[in-house]
Amino acid sequence: MTSDLSSKAHLPLEAALARHAEAFRERFGPGSPSLYFSPGRVNLMGAHLDYNQGPVMPTAIDRGTFLALRRRSDRRVRFASTFDPRTLELELDELPGQRLRFWADYPLGVLRELLLARGGSQDLCGVEILFGGNLPVGAGLSSSASICVGTALALDRAYELRLERLDLVRSALAAERGFVGVQCGIMDPYAVGFARAGHLLWLDCKDRSFEHLPFDFESLRLAVVDSGVRRELAEGAFNRRVEECRAAFELLRVAQPEALCLRDVQLATLEERRRSMDPTLARRAEHVIREVGRTFEARERLLAGEPDQLGALMSRTHASLRELFEVSCPELDLIVEVATGSEGALGARLTGAGFGGCAVVLLRRGAEEQLERRLHAAFRARFGRAPRVQHFGGDPGPRALEGA
Ligand code: GLA
Repeated sequence: MTSDLSSKAHLPLEAALARHAEAFRERFGPGSPSLYFSPGRVNLMGAHLDYNQGPVMPTAIDRGTFLALRRRSDRRVRFASTFDPRTLELELDELPGQRLRFWADYPLGVLRELLLARGGSQDLCGVEILFGGNLPVGAGLSSSASICVGTALALDRAYELRLERLDLVRSALAAERGFVGVQCGIMDPYAVGFARAGHLLWLDCKDRSFEHLPFDFESLRLAVVDSGVRRELAEGAFNRRVEECRAAFELLRVAQPEALCLRDVQLATLEERRRSMDPTLARRAEHVIREVGRTFEARERLLAGEPDQLGALMSRTHASLRELFEVSCPELDLIVEVATGSEGALGARLTGAGFGGCAVVLLRRGAEEQLERRLHAAFRARFGRAPRVQHFGGDPGPRALEGA
């Protein structure tokens, strides 16, 4: 699935969804579908901490997934996408037990979860959904959580299930872990599902408690720079990091028995054990342990009104992702290097899992143009092409919208 950003990225949401309803009619015939929007997210701090039960600081962004849904009179389910000519068609009673290995696995996984929670599909009608949107796919902006939470919301409304927001988030998570097979942490569906405009989410992944931290989207901007490098998470690189962290924890917990997860392990414990550990596992653990400290500090800096310090911490996170966690790539490193040297840019790091995708830059309003100029020149000189730079605002979270 490739993304088509050029024509839709700057359309106001209502207009973009009206156009999406038109695309739905072209695909599925006349009528007025229900319309939904579900945002993507960027993570400012807490890189690779969620599955180590640490704290994370993401925010939803004003780009995401569009969904147009219509109930059917029979029991057929049809999922289509504006990014892919293929349509998935099946009967409600014959949902596959295994993933099909294309994008429709995400909504299919959610549908399965909701039916499971409901105790079956009896008395339900079929649905047809057209997916689309203005979020780059596979770019580290959590298109997968966006599509999963959006599907959960749309199906909840279509079937009048009246689920709590937390149930929608849980079904999105279960679909991605259980059906698609990515061992992702809880950050992404929480960041999407519990978004609040003008705020970052502070989520402690150990007890799943969260709160909203005010973020000044007026004077600060988030630029997201796409490296153009893509790697599917399900390919295994992400799951390998999860495994490495688990293995590091197994070794370290022996020296610190009260620790329940890698997030609890102290730097002193790692130093004591480092020589007897595989150096790769020691590097992964060091990233996690130091990132926990940086993320708590970032929270304090943000609350104290010191965005420069928050930016500096983001840049240190990137260095750690490059050196210790080894999930960066030359394109992302160049973006971060150039961005951090640009006036008014406060800090930068890769966002999402890494292995390509996007870098996020925290900058003061007014510094956008210089940043773009410098990035284009440097990137072109080194890689022969310009990276895509977009400026995102926050978002109030998944919702139904008018527009058909
Ligand atoms: C991916 C996963 C998240 C999180 C990040 C890294 O986006 O889906 O759960 O682990 O990587 O912080």
